Amino acid sequence: MAVGFANDLALVDDAELVAVGSRSVERAQAFAERYGAPAAYGSYEELAADPSVDVVYVATPASRHADDTLLFLEAGKHVLCEKPFALNATQARRMVAAARERGLFLMEAMWARFLPPYRKLAELLADGAIGEPRLVEADFGFAMPREPGGRLWDPALGGGSLLDLGVYPVQLAAMVLGTPTSVAAAGHIGPTGVDEHVAAVLGHTGGELAVVKAAIATNMACTARISGTLGVIELPAIMHCPGSLTVLRLGQTEVIDTPWTGGGWQFQVFEVHDRLAAGDLESPVMPLDESVSIMETLDAIREQIGLRFPGE
Ligand SMILES: NC(=O)c1ccc[n+]([C@@H]2O[C@H](COP(=O)([O-])OP(=O)(O)OC[C@H]3O[C@@H](n4cnc5c(N)ncnc54)[C@H](OP(=O)(O)O)[C@@H]3O)[C@@H](O)[C@H]2O)c1
Repeated sequence: MAVGFANDLALVDDAELVAVGSRSVERAQAFAERYGAPAAYGSYEELAADPSVDVVYVATPASRHADDTLLFLEAGKHVLCEKPFALNATQARRMVAAARERGLFLMEAMWARFLPPYRKLAELLADGAIGEPRLVEADFGFAMPREPGGRLWDPALGGGSLLDLGVYPVQLAAMVLGTPTSVAAAGHIGPTGVDEHVAAVLGHTGGELAVVKAAIATNMACTARISGTLGVIELPAIMHCPGSLTVLRLGQTEVIDTPWTGGGWQFQVFEVHDRLAAGDLESPVMPLDESVSIMETLDAIREQIGLRFPGE
């Protein structure tokens, strides 16, 4: 999603795209030209060695997130790494340890968390708008074109519905209910070896439940609902970037519009800049321990549906 990110960087006053890295120098040059970056490199190693780079946005397929993040951290760069944070929790822990050892900033680019609807959702939950949240239900799935070798369909690139789309319902459940203590999952592994759809029930210590679903070969409603002791908050489609929230309470319905301009990538960049300016090495909105915990939940779901990636 480097294109969306580069577009939205223009909306951040103190951000500058200073260099682009690609496995091909021609692709790097084309991208750099399009977005006005002064430097373009034909390898990620050359990008890591550029002293003008402060923060690297890692937007490679999930199978590369750990290696690429470690490369840039080892070169002394702060890193914003796309979701899913890694292929598995082991990799995620290694990334977090490397950032902490080196005193560098690291954050999962879970853009949803930084969008106005999710900021508003956090505020509503903290204010007790629906009392104690007890149940989270969320699904996210599309019938995507079957592209042989495409990222979504290739286990070698960390494809499948769970890691690419399921991470959004799982992170919503984590944001509302915290780390689950039990996981019950079922899924369908298709002919290319990735999960084409998956569903899981996540249990929590107080009895709270989350029901999460994802798909890459089936169209889902792509909505979410949080039910609490006093009411319900609905997130309309698409649940990771809804334009409004609906609060239902004692027969009353309140629709809260949560619009924004731009693609939405800029909000996570604002957070990176704010945290760096404050001298913080991680974000309280998307903490590193929570990114690891989300990967643990994804691992537990994968274990139950029999989804393993090459090399694991
Ligand atoms: N926040 C969001 O809304 C959002 C939306 C979509 C995707 N994402 C996330 O962003 C990441 C990238 O997604 P994408 O759709 O942009 O992926 P993509 O187009 O398949 O890959 C992005 C780039 O990764 C590089 N790459 C490095 N190793 C590769 C390999 N072995 N195979 C293929 N490409 C490789 C390629 O660039 P070079 O060849 O130039 O090196 C490629 O252009 C994923 O983690 C995805 O989950 C986030």
